[in-house]
Amino acid sequence: MQGMKIDSLVLSNFRNYKDLKIKFDDKVNIFIGKNAQGKTNLLESIYYCCIGKSFKSTKDKELIFWGEESAYIKLLANKKFRDEEIEIKLFSSQKKSIQINKLPIKKLGELIGEINIVFFSPQELKLVRESPEERRKFMDIDISQNNKRYFYQLSRYEKILANRNKLLKNSKTIEVVKDTIDIWDRALVASAKIIAFEREKFVKEIAPYAQKAHSFLSGGKEQLSLVYKCGCGVSLDETFEKNMDKVLKKNLEKDFKLGYTTVGVHRDDIDIFLNDVEVKNFGSQGQQRTVGLSLKLAELENMYNINGEYPILLLDDVFSELDLDRQRRLLKFVDRTQTFITCTDEKKLDGKIYNIVDGKVAKS
Ligand SMILES: Nc1ncnc2c1ncn2[C@@H]1O[C@H](COP(=O)(O)OP(=O)(O)O)[C@@H](O)[C@H]1O
Ligand SMILES: [Mg+2]
Repeated sequence: MQGMKIDSLVLSNFRNYKDLKIKFDDKVNIFIGKNAQGKTNLLESIYYCCIGKSFKSTKDKELIFWGEESAYIKLLANKKFRDEEIEIKLFSSQKKSIQINKLPIKKLGELIGEINIVFFSPQELKLVRESPEERRKFMDIDISQNNKRYFYQLSRYEKILANRNKLLKNSKTIEVVKDTIDIWDRALVASAKIIAFEREKFVKEIAPYAQKAHSFLSGGKEQLSLVYKCGCGVSLDETFEKNMDKVLKKNLEKDFKLGYTTVGVHRDDIDIFLNDVEVKNFGSQGQQRTVGLSLKLAELENMYNINGEYPILLLDDVFSELDLDRQRRLLKFVDRTQTFITCTDEKKLDGKIYNIVDGKVAKS
């Protein structure tokens, strides 16, 4: 075992869990149960402790057991050099509080990256053909876990962009816009540069791992390539800032008419090819799934490469989406990580089984 491990979890009033104390196995933990029993909720609580938000687009309030005022999560993890205790309290009418090893944190950025995680669901298997937004999220969540500066830069970029868009939208004439847009453009360009360079680096880093995973999963010789497509309309070198500024100016009239900014890293994407054919438009469903899975496995390997430690792996309902051969290969691939799997029926999986019934772990 070369990875981080979650030792135990305590939940109270989180989703449909009134009270739960659960100790985990170092290797494979399997949550089995019928639909709507709380399997995904359990993964969600783990994910929340690592990323500081849900993988669903959910408001914090919705995570609290219906009718209750607050929810509580406590997670104990073992890392290479130290243990980590994450405690989170969610409230229906005030801000959440997060403590790491009993010390309250001020910003979410202090939490992200403490315990690294890779999350898989049928949704991620579709990563390849989803909208670019999903692929940006994929880059952002991954890079942020290894790079806090990037995490802060993202929120900075969003704020600058919002201000620039407000100016474009609310100004009566383009002359008014021209008077003040320079400060936003300068800030936007500086921030975009950091984000674009990190994303490019990330895509280059995971590409060989994705190729390896794809060959392994498909058993074939298809060549998988990933290309970072920057939405800034300039090349990624020392001319970036100067040229992006020019592109912003060139598009100003159009942006003013539309009322929003049409160039920037908020338009980024990853182009994905199999043997030089774009998978998004021309790949079969099977190919798209295998590539989606390969991207996630590449994340895992890349995190190991960066941290010297594997992240924790959450697999939500993915086995039902894969044929037997790919299921087997996936499990072989991930036997180095602590893994949490949900499924509706007992597969031939090796691991500690937890039967989930109505927000409780039933005796098996
Ligand atoms: N805030 C909440 N309070 C109580 N129950 C909730 C809350 N949010 C979701 N649920 C319940 O959780 C169940 C869904 O859990 P989920 O983990 O998605 O199930 P599955 O086992 O199918 O993965 C549903 O029965 C839903 O009503
Ligand atoms: Mg589920």
